[in-house]
Amino acid sequence: ALAVLRPRDLAGLRVVVSTGGTREPIDPVRFIGNRSSGRQGVALARAAAERGAEVTLVAAHTDDGVLAEATGLAVVRAMAAADMLTAMRDAAAMADVVVMAAAVADYRPAAASDAKLTKEGSRGRGRKLELVETEDVLKALAGERRPGQTLVGFAAETSRGDELLARGRRKLERKGADLLVVNEVGWEVGFEQASNEVVILGRGGGVAAEASGTKREVADAVWDAVLAARSATR
Ligand code: CTP
Ligand code: CA
Repeated sequence: ALAVLRPRDLAGLRVVVSTGGTREPIDPVRFIGNRSSGRQGVALARAAAERGAEVTLVAAHTDDGVLAEATGLAVVRAMAAADMLTAMRDAAAMADVVVMAAAVADYRPAAASDAKLTKEGSRGRGRKLELVETEDVLKALAGERRPGQTLVGFAAETSRGDELLARGRRKLERKGADLLVVNEVGWEVGFEQASNEVVILGRGGGVAAEASGTKREVADAVWDAVLAARSATR
């Protein structure tokens, strides 16, 4: 087979990509998690490496086999939102491009119980779990970004069409990122799937690019948009 020649147009760039879904501990055996597989983030990291970048992948929980695709990359594990903040701050301090593709939990249990919660302990009355907001990693990184660093966020939204874009624009503004990759999700759409369909919003809320196809194709479109955004601000 013919090897596909890819441009090494990311050579010289240090990039950090987060991926997977965080798990917020309830007790030693339970957590609050989400359905993110980690595939899109790993595809972004691989694409960047193949295009010549020096890549660090910060991974929360990923589905079985997904991290095998990251063989050869520097991988840091960060299971909960708080770990993700620490790991991303560390890695971002040296990075030219930071991509937050991880699905970070918005809430965590106010306190993780050291003892496993038991039914005996709730005596048939059910339970209320008190939740507090996690740290917003993307927002924190935006506040600390180094000069010239490009920051990319992701947004999975259950709304569609104009409402999807409007929500994406508000989110981009609120987060202070340079690019926001917006995709629609639903019970049947967006998760555990090989392909993806996204709109990439740029600073000011304009559509920088649209892409659909395999997660690799979407990844390449994101890196193209990153390069375009970087050359526009130089
Ligand atoms: N994100 C983050 N830290 C969080 C929550 C989200 O860094 N605690 C990042 C995600 O990795 C993503 C972007 O912020 O790149 C948008 O995430 P999203 O969940 O869509 O936005 P939220 O601000 O959490 O808003 P909401 O879930 O209410 O729509
Ligand atoms: Ca969220």
